[in-house]
Amino acid sequence: MIRVFEPWTSPSDVLEVNKALIKKQISGSSTYIGKLEEKFKQFIGMKYGIAVSNGSVALDLALQTLDLDENDEIILPAFSIISCLSSIIRTGAKPVFSDVDKKTWNITLDEIKKLKSSRTKGVLVVHTYGLPAEIDEISKYCKENNLFLIEDTAEAHGIKIGNKYCGSYGDLSTFSFYANKHITSGEGGMILTNNKDFYKKIIQMRNLDFKASNRFVHDNFYWNYRISGLQAALAFSQIDNVEKIIKKKQQQARVYNDLFKNNAEIITPEKSFREIKNNYWVYGIVLKKDGIRDELMERLYKKNIETRPFFWPLHLQPAYREQVSEDIALLPVSENLGKNGLYLPMGAHINKKIQKKIVKSIENTLAEITK
Ligand SMILES: Cc1ncc(COP(=O)(O)O)c(C=O)c1O
Repeated sequence: MIRVFEPWTSPSDVLEVNKALIKKQISGSSTYIGKLEEKFKQFIGMKYGIAVSNGSVALDLALQTLDLDENDEIILPAFSIISCLSSIIRTGAKPVFSDVDKKTWNITLDEIKKLKSSRTKGVLVVHTYGLPAEIDEISKYCKENNLFLIEDTAEAHGIKIGNKYCGSYGDLSTFSFYANKHITSGEGGMILTNNKDFYKKIIQMRNLDFKASNRFVHDNFYWNYRISGLQAALAFSQIDNVEKIIKKKQQQARVYNDLFKNNAEIITPEKSFREIKNNYWVYGIVLKKDGIRDELMERLYKKNIETRPFFWPLHLQPAYREQVSEDIALLPVSENLGKNGLYLPMGAHINKKIQKKIVKSIENTLAEITK
């Protein structure tokens, strides 16, 4: 089976994790956690970092920090992962879904402006699949309109706009270090902020509201969102490799782009947004013909090629529809991506020969299905 992803790990990763183990720095109070936070916040260019157990939890904590209630609205892209929606739902605030741009698959300032109301408290921006959103403009707009900006940078480690990294724009920026991310700790995440009050609050929220004195007397029912020392040691080491990993993915994407260049049935990802190159967190393709994506994926799987469907639009999630069904807008771009998009194998196990085999199989299978 050609799996959809396998991570790149280096000998230094192995050494660093072993060091943590030998020094018995493995728990959620390991010195590696502070080391990771320090290195990562400096890499992205923010004042405070809080490492947590995954990227979904990072979003949860970011949203919980804002003290939202049912009178508040948060604008978010409909084309994204469920964690974005569920973190808003858990605050009690109302999610307001934006469609995404046809080419970049990202939320845009124009859509945000259309959706802003007197209840809007913030905007959750996601940099999707390898291209940055127009975060510079969105960030200015949020400042001018007194809106919180939450920047989900799970898929955009190492993307720079001018000399500023994605993840340095949000009032709260969140990251995932899941195994398929450009920097990984297997499972893990991070919140970055320049706001000291947010930082202090999240530190408490991450760790059961334990305090320096009276440790077991709690003012709040917080939870345990800690990352372990072993995971932190891996992410700490992985930060050094991010540029190399992005280059390898861009190289694999160039091969796919070339192999698909004469294919009229498939839309390949945009190579760049303005001057900024796609870093191909995933290599996603969209089928022009409606309604055959699932069959293509099933047949490829039988031929030992694993693929993944694109995100299913958040406004159509069964978990959400049950709660509110009457105010669902039609969001055609997100819906088309959700129905007809899939992403292809990339990673440490892939080479040009395998990519040729994958593309040949896709083309043959499409011919079988549509004949
Ligand atoms: C945009 C985005 N946000 C959040 C997450 C959640 O991260 P995790 O899997 O670490 O919980 C992901 C995961 O892929 C993601 O793509």
